[in-house]
Amino acid sequence: MRRKVIAGNWKMNMLPDETIKFIDEIAPLVKDTKNEVILCVPYTDLFYALLTVQNTNIKIGAQNMHWEENGAYTGEVSGKMLKVIGVEYVIIGHSERRQYYAETDETVNKKIKSAFANELKPIVCVGETLEQREEGKTEEIIKQQTRLALEGLSNEQVKNVIIAYEPIWAIGTGKTATSEDANSSIKSIRKEIESIYGKEVSEQVIIQYGGSVKSEIAKELFETSDIDGGLVGGASLKVEEFSKIVNYDKN
Ligand code: PGA
Repeated sequence: MRRKVIAGNWKMNMLPDETIKFIDEIAPLVKDTKNEVILCVPYTDLFYALLTVQNTNIKIGAQNMHWEENGAYTGEVSGKMLKVIGVEYVIIGHSERRQYYAETDETVNKKIKSAFANELKPIVCVGETLEQREEGKTEEIIKQQTRLALEGLSNEQVKNVIIAYEPIWAIGTGKTATSEDANSSIKSIRKEIESIYGKEVSEQVIIQYGGSVKSEIAKELFETSDIDGGLVGGASLKVEEFSKIVNYDKN
């Protein structure tokens, strides 16, 4: 059985003191879960977060990285830099980065390869826009994004990728996808992986749902056949709400 992975994506929120307080408060609330708990925090909070999660079951991720190890890339942070301070996960290809910072399927692919080269676990985002959905292109788009993101990876690497299916129309809008819709999109992502890498691989890939995940609907979403947890934005900024999402299976 695949494990459930619940990751918070703080985006450009939280200062170091707020980060320390948040982790100190949430750690006892999530300590007994069998689900994997990850917080993807801004670069400036990483070090504080890493120190504060020591002796807890909370893992820390970054929200982006460059694919080169070093060089003349003003303002960028490399996978190697993240790895040496103890970061374990990194979000790659979030739709906000694709939309505002010219992230493409090609740069996403390069970043995933670099993440693996630096022993970081990538959380790769795919998802359709509202327009693409209305045109009936959801499946085509998410399969293509998945295929291009994973191009050139070994079976072993693909097994260790976490994919977050995040329909863009559901992000930050309060409009969560229905569990049927989200599960069916995730199934088609898994099918696409199966067609390239085989069933043994596709059955092991963790595929999360993201887009207005809230505690009231977490259980319904995460108990479907193919949704293996969530990538949570807004709701991951509140201790109580995020702990309820992590503990969705305890009610
Ligand atoms: P949201 O964001 O939960 O606030 O919709 C999810 C995400 O962008 O990862």
